[in-house]
Amino acid sequence: MSREPRHYLMCAPEHFAVEYAINPWMDPERPVDIALARRQWHELRQALVGLGHTVETLSPVAGLPDMVFAANGAFSVDGMVYGARFRFPQRSAEAAAHRTYYEADPATWKFVAPEQTNEGEGDFAYLPDVDGGLILAGYGFRTELAAHTEAQEALGHPVLSLRLVDPMFYHLDVALAPVDDANVAYYPDAFSAGSQRVLRRLFPDAVLADIDDARAFGLNLVSDGRNVVLPAEAEVLAGKLAASGYVPVPVELGELKKGGGSVKCCVAELRP
Ligand code: ARG
Repeated sequence: MSREPRHYLMCAPEHFAVEYAINPWMDPERPVDIALARRQWHELRQALVGLGHTVETLSPVAGLPDMVFAANGAFSVDGMVYGARFRFPQRSAEAAAHRTYYEADPATWKFVAPEQTNEGEGDFAYLPDVDGGLILAGYGFRTELAAHTEAQEALGHPVLSLRLVDPMFYHLDVALAPVDDANVAYYPDAFSAGSQRVLRRLFPDAVLADIDDARAFGLNLVSDGRNVVLPAEAEVLAGKLAASGYVPVPVELGELKKGGGSVKCCVAELRP
């Protein structure tokens, strides 16, 4: 399995908190151990650096407690960046922080401002070796279907829409993840019957997760094509990935799970 050095963008959980509930995982009554959240985030970052990847960081902004979930801020392919527009007002200011990051380097990035609601890599995934570069896009809870066509126009790659039906799996990236340039892992029941049929047709060799692994955020993984960084709790999925030739790299991210996210939510991939 080919492994490539990747370029990632993360944002430290300096201001992480669960102050509101915009997904079923968030409970503002449940205390968050911020020191532990910081340690777990640093270990995730170290795991990625240890695998030979480059990790850039965004400066955390006070008052934006979900900013640690950097995957939601934009979606880039071939140096084009489709900006995010958050569904909930509590997160809307995060989009500008991401936009500033890309616009600071116009030689590398061309930023396209969105008109439609979309939450970046939360709902968009990229498979470079399928159909010359296929974008998978989720809708049903956060990203609007109209954003899928907007992304296709902005990025010049085909976008395939997949309908999410379970509020526990409110973003595509908690239900499905690319494990290499042409294959995915996913939890079928997070998708409508029609979308499940499409996924079966397109990815006959996909790694399928069960409900326990999906609830452990096992699909919220980051793969470099060989090494798959995923939450340690997703043990069965790790075994399936190993049996398919991948190398699971388990990390603990229990504090961030209280916000409704895990590995992938914290890591935006930069595709210059
Ligand atoms: N609390 C955040 C929200 O509900 C979690 C975002 C998780 N990020 C992700 N890429 N799935 O928006």
